[in-house]
Amino acid sequence: TAAQKDGYPHFMIKEIHEQPAAITRTITPRIKDMLPDFSEDAIADSFFENVSDITIVACGTAMYAGMVGKTMIQNRLHIPVTVAIASEFRYEEPVINEKSMVIVVSQSGETIDTLEALRLANKYTKKTLSIVNVKGSSIARESSYVLYTHAGPEIAVASTKAYTVQVASFYLLACKLAMTQQKISVEEARTFVGTLQEIPNYIEEVLAQAPDIEQLTKRMINANNAFFIGRGLDYTLCMEGALKLKEISYIHAEAYAAGELKHGTIALVSEGVPVIAAATQKHVYSKVISNIREVKARGAYVILLSKDKEITDPSICDVHINLPDVSDEFTIFESVVIFQLIAYYTSVGKGLNPDQPRNLAKSVTVE
Ligand code: G6P
Repeated sequence: TAAQKDGYPHFMIKEIHEQPAAITRTITPRIKDMLPDFSEDAIADSFFENVSDITIVACGTAMYAGMVGKTMIQNRLHIPVTVAIASEFRYEEPVINEKSMVIVVSQSGETIDTLEALRLANKYTKKTLSIVNVKGSSIARESSYVLYTHAGPEIAVASTKAYTVQVASFYLLACKLAMTQQKISVEEARTFVGTLQEIPNYIEEVLAQAPDIEQLTKRMINANNAFFIGRGLDYTLCMEGALKLKEISYIHAEAYAAGELKHGTIALVSEGVPVIAAATQKHVYSKVISNIREVKARGAYVILLSKDKEITDPSICDVHINLPDVSDEFTIFESVVIFQLIAYYTSVGKGLNPDQPRNLAKSVTVE
């Protein structure tokens, strides 16, 4: 009913706006003395010790949250971290042993492929952790440990707030693992946690740009194809951006690691094709910019997300979205909100109902 939507026209846009509060609710109980602390979840410290490798298993948006988690954990721990699609993992020969940690991510806690993947992992290791939103769900019950995200009920089929709280949970886990294994100092951990606590404020700033995003999607409505490009963390995020656009606007959208474009996909870039480019990671910034020049030279309509106050060379992009200045590892929380808004307003602009996309279900319990 309209009342449940709090005055918003759709659940999806309501849930997009709930993200700052959802993140605060999820991280606050897991921060003590400005450090990650999972005592409320009854996760023993020994769980974070003696980890030889980590496999993250999930489906859909939860899997893309896992990709961010992989980067965050691997960059600190320097151990192999793999992301597996649950429907693939469950039919493969698992390369895991009792020192392997398996992290299963699911909003509903009932996705059958993810549940079966967990059951398989349980045969090999006791170090299974689920990141789940729905209390008491099957995946939460069957994993050794559970970290509940506090997104609140997510009604829209396309996941938004559940994703950002999953990512925030991975940030705390990465920090905890790194501390346990003495890969970062207490001081560094406190700075990291302090930045994470600020993220809800930065998201509020980004949400204030919603009217501008609605405006720019007028240019997306007639597109048949769109590409999301970036490198590093930006690339992991592009996958979620492309998925959102596909799910609710039915525009064929693909995410590409910007450096890989020249090996095939650039053949698809022609006059007017929207390319949404994220350039927020300093160490690859100039590389992404030169990739953008390549698509621009072929007539793409480029929407650029970056932390630059302004773009001095107007030939790079058609629209520039300025993101609030936060350290590189945290910008993805800002960019994903822009991507969600692009998908939402494109869907609405096409006269579609973003809450009820065709052919999709909120929770998939069929194999
Ligand atoms: C369905 C939903 C997606 C979701 C995926 C995994 O496909 O439409 O939004 O990401 O299932 O769901 P889960 O509940 O396991 O996170």
